[in-house]
Amino acid sequence: LAVDDGLRTGYHFQPPKHWINDPNGVMYYKGVYHLFYQYNPKGAVWGNIVWAHAVSTDLVDWVMLPPAIYPTAPFDVNGCWSGSATVLPDGTPVIMYTGIDGENRQVQNVAYPKDLSDPYLREWVKPDYNPVISPGPGMNAAAFRDPTTAWLGPDGLWRLVIGTKDNHRGLAVLYRSRDFKRWAPANRALHSGDTGMWECPDFYPVNDTKHVLKVSLDLTRFEYYTLGEYDRDTDTYTPDPSLADGNDGLRYDYGNFYASKTFLDTSKQQQRVLWGWANESDSTADDIRKGWAGVQAIPRKVTLSPDGRQLVQWPVAEIESLRGAHVNVTDVLVKSGHHFEVAGLASASQADVEAAFQVMDMDMDKAEAFDPAWRGVDAQAVCAARGADAKGGVGPFGLWVLASGDGGQEERTAVFFRVFKDGDGGKHVVLMCNDPSMSSKADGLYKPTFAGFVDVDLAKTGGKIALRTLIDHSVVESFGEYGKTCILSRVYPTKAVGDKARLYVFNNGESDVKVTHLNAYEMRSAKITSDTAEQTST
Ligand code: FRU
Repeated sequence: LAVDDGLRTGYHFQPPKHWINDPNGVMYYKGVYHLFYQYNPKGAVWGNIVWAHAVSTDLVDWVMLPPAIYPTAPFDVNGCWSGSATVLPDGTPVIMYTGIDGENRQVQNVAYPKDLSDPYLREWVKPDYNPVISPGPGMNAAAFRDPTTAWLGPDGLWRLVIGTKDNHRGLAVLYRSRDFKRWAPANRALHSGDTGMWECPDFYPVNDTKHVLKVSLDLTRFEYYTLGEYDRDTDTYTPDPSLADGNDGLRYDYGNFYASKTFLDTSKQQQRVLWGWANESDSTADDIRKGWAGVQAIPRKVTLSPDGRQLVQWPVAEIESLRGAHVNVTDVLVKSGHHFEVAGLASASQADVEAAFQVMDMDMDKAEAFDPAWRGVDAQAVCAARGADAKGGVGPFGLWVLASGDGGQEERTAVFFRVFKDGDGGKHVVLMCNDPSMSSKADGLYKPTFAGFVDVDLAKTGGKIALRTLIDHSVVESFGEYGKTCILSRVYPTKAVGDKARLYVFNNGESDVKVTHLNAYEMRSAKITSDTAEQTST
């Protein structure tokens, strides 16, 4: 059995064909959102990397443009890798990206729009004075890339951060410039960690006092972030001491989500929006046969949680404009060991599901004991040991999505919660999981279970917990407790495809659980069109 062709996404961004990876240079400029991304114009595997370009007025529908930045000069002959855009105070956008030069060194180059009166900023010019930042003596020229958006300091100098490593130590190195042309390294890195190469750093304020520093870990292929204080005068970043920093730090997403980048959306309101790349998890042979690989996650609004201990993410509101007919479920009790179908959607393969579950109060003490050995272990290991089909006390309960019509017996992806009791104090630990072990009859797929803990006090919420899941053929993108814990997973059903896909609610725990409400919306497809102006002019 092979991966079905009908698994292309309907509303998660992907170009008509070929390989994509990191989102790049995301920005809002004069009413238009720009998404650039790493792209192989020649095939469905990584290579020949250019900056592909798409524009949108609503973050939902996209117009595909020709690549904006591609190898043309000695400073980028071997590739145009990731980078960021900065809108200068005079309104000019500038891109800084990593070029792979003739000696395969990673250098940073700038590019400016050729014609500011072109609303789509189709063409970009690379000044001859590039590269503007080269790896200094003693630096690792094969690991020096992915410049951030720049910010202005109180001294009027621009700053930006570049990802690198020194042996095993990942570093976010800081550079300063008066004119965006001549850049000088700071004496001290902004931050570092004993985690291997730091790719795609991102650094931004979330309110008047707190900053976020996010890095992508080349070795583990996941991202983590810290919250901390940034002293603008001394360029010192101090992560909050009470929060973890390193491999067990906070994550935007506990699933397949990498090389992400935020931008400030200055349209109606100032919102911080996050883009991230979701790689395929089928085989390279499947990608070549499909002719495409990689999607972008739904752009997410990022805010700080009220207690200041983590970020909260939510799909941008615009995505709700794709919602069509919906099915509603209110106050349905799901008894221990039972499941029911949420029927009535024309297709459950392209849907947006919002649900709230309530654990019956008196049953909270039925929760399984949290094994002290799991303390400090990541959630993924706990969920791998206790998958969706392992009966529990309180949970596992949640959704079977992209499920076959036989009650999900042949295929289903489980998105669920599981509640543990930690010690005698009765404090509850809530785990959110995505278990794709039953997701497909096809062979050779990478099907890891993904999981994260959810910071929710069920005593305070009356036993309630919320889940939203965006289902899109081969994407299952979930937001636990209103965006506190997020998990994106790629799955490749062979039966639960198109209008054959079904949606179920299940409860595999001893305690009864009530679905207090569930709204499942059919989702229309986003319009991805090519640039007609370009077609008529050529
Ligand atoms: C992250 C990354 C970046 C690099 C780009 C190359 O996925 O490896 O570090 O700039 O992809 O395509």
